[in-house]
Amino acid sequence: MRLEGLRALVTGAGSGIGEAIARRFAAEGAAIACIGRTASKLERVASDVGRSGGRAIAVVADQTDPAAVKSAVAQTVSALGGLDVLVNNAGVFRGGALSETDIEALEAVLRSNLFGPFAFCREALPHLARSNSASIINISSTIGTKPVPGCAAYCISKAALQMMTQVLALEAAPHRVRVNAICPAVVDTPIHRERVDDPQALRTFLDEMAAAHPLGRIGKPEDVAEAALYLASPAASWTTGVILPVDGGILLS
Ligand SMILES: NC(=O)c1ccc[n+]([C@@H]2O[C@H](COP(=O)([O-])OP(=O)(O)OC[C@H]3O[C@@H](n4cnc5c(N)ncnc54)[C@H](OP(=O)(O)O)[C@@H]3O)[C@@H](O)[C@H]2O)c1
Repeated sequence: MRLEGLRALVTGAGSGIGEAIARRFAAEGAAIACIGRTASKLERVASDVGRSGGRAIAVVADQTDPAAVKSAVAQTVSALGGLDVLVNNAGVFRGGALSETDIEALEAVLRSNLFGPFAFCREALPHLARSNSASIINISSTIGTKPVPGCAAYCISKAALQMMTQVLALEAAPHRVRVNAICPAVVDTPIHRERVDDPQALRTFLDEMAAAHPLGRIGKPEDVAEAALYLASPAASWTTGVILPVDGGILLS
């Protein structure tokens, strides 16, 4: 039980990578607050965790709304008795080259992928500072490190999230709060199914992506959950400000 006694808030816990992190953390003894916009998805994960002998609550909040973020953190702390780990996983993908992206479209992506995690960090920090095993894990992306054309707003949002991780790692270190980021490459989650409607086109995209990763496959949500588990656990107690690729080697290619 590598997270025994810890209390974790996981955003975007109703699907994909966030769901895998919530389930993995719960299996390692953490109590979980599952945050997202869709109650049914969060309740499914929370009740599965409960049936397996763990503890999880579902809290509906839209991270683009600072008042909702404040309330979600308050509800989590009240229900779980404090907070030790914040996982800023929720995010959206939007395509579009920079020349096709107007200010409103950029702002919408930043509101979700940057301002949301920013607000969660600000609300969580006073609670994390009271923990003996505090950390924040931000889920960025390899394309926030090494950009690809055609999704400018997304790349910009994830690059900024990496800088926020390192700024906060320095500022929170005196309070013994560690702050790290994970950069997944292509992982098989609903984010791609929402983007590519046609099942055949989706299969072709995922096959091409598998071939593009040196390890010859795309990622599973559980690959990212294992890295998050390490960063949240006492095994990583001297690790902060790290931007960790979990990417099948794609950043080397
Ligand atoms: N899959 C990949 O290839 C990949 C690669 C690199 C990075 N990532 C990053 O990994 C993270 C998780 O994505 P995923 O691939 O697991 O996709 P996903 O299944 O679509 O998960 C995203 C989650 O975020 C929630 N969410 C979205 N907007 C939200 C908002 N405004 N407030 C609260 N919750 C919100 C969604 O739930 P609701 O819609 O119910 O709110 C959903 O559960 C994202 O930050 C993504 O950018 C993914």
